[in-house]
Amino acid sequence: MTEPTLHHPRYTRSNRYDPMWVTANQMGPNVLWLTESLMEVMTIEPGMKVLDLGCGKAASSIFLAREFGAQVWATDLWIPADENRQRIEEAGLTELITAVHAEAHTLPFEAGFFDAIVSIDAYQYFGTADLYLGYVLDFLKPGGQIGAVMPATTRELGEEIPVTLEQFWEWDFCCWHTPEWWRTHWAKTRKVTVEHAELIEDMWRDWLQFNDFIAPHVEGWWIDEVASTRDFLMTDQGTEIGFSRVVATKR
Ligand SMILES: C[S@@+](CC[C@H](N)C(=O)[O-])C[C@H]1O[C@@H](n2cnc3c(N)ncnc32)[C@H](O)[C@@H]1O
Repeated sequence: MTEPTLHHPRYTRSNRYDPMWVTANQMGPNVLWLTESLMEVMTIEPGMKVLDLGCGKAASSIFLAREFGAQVWATDLWIPADENRQRIEEAGLTELITAVHAEAHTLPFEAGFFDAIVSIDAYQYFGTADLYLGYVLDFLKPGGQIGAVMPATTRELGEEIPVTLEQFWEWDFCCWHTPEWWRTHWAKTRKVTVEHAELIEDMWRDWLQFNDFIAPHVEGWWIDEVASTRDFLMTDQGTEIGFSRVVATKR
């Protein structure tokens, strides 16, 4: 049997990060892989002001600052800003990253402040409301990009949950949608041009690889979470569930 590894041929930037640091700061799938896959279709350049919305433990913010020289506002609700500030300090990136504790509907920023907005495995928690995109776009300059990566269904689900998913289903999975759903959801505001709305190829396999790597290292309720994620991914094999990336430019 091959040893679980965090080395991945696609994610060459992420390969440079200490796997135990990535494990310690995980809040689901591998945030660095999700961020790197978004950067394949989004442009972040040195000095750009970036809102990282729902940054969790700020690993994506650290990645964007270190890899692309972006100035990042690492913004999150569940994780206190002090905790993220400490991680940012340990990464030596205090000049580039500002930790902010905020709820996605009451963001403490000026209109048009950001050159780009990213959101990794978080936008689904607040962004399914029809009016949310219009709200968050106020903080983005015209011509700026917004990019989000989130869990995806491969078809829009109705009342019937697919049998393979039934035993794993949690009510809040109802916020998972297809990439096409997100394309329409954003495009119909007429406030953006949607450039990408697609499943990230094989992300379910990557999630499984990551899950297997972290399994021996997690504690507490994460032990059950990791076991059930494995069952879920092995049962589904990407048939119903994956990850989507959606990128649009503000008109
Ligand atoms: C699954 S975690 C992902 C965190 C991080 N982006 C990552 O991938 O590791 C979802 C994050 O969304 C944030 N979040 C959820 N609802 C939010 C809201 N209403 N306002 C701001 N952040 C929110 C949570 O604080 C949490 O850190």
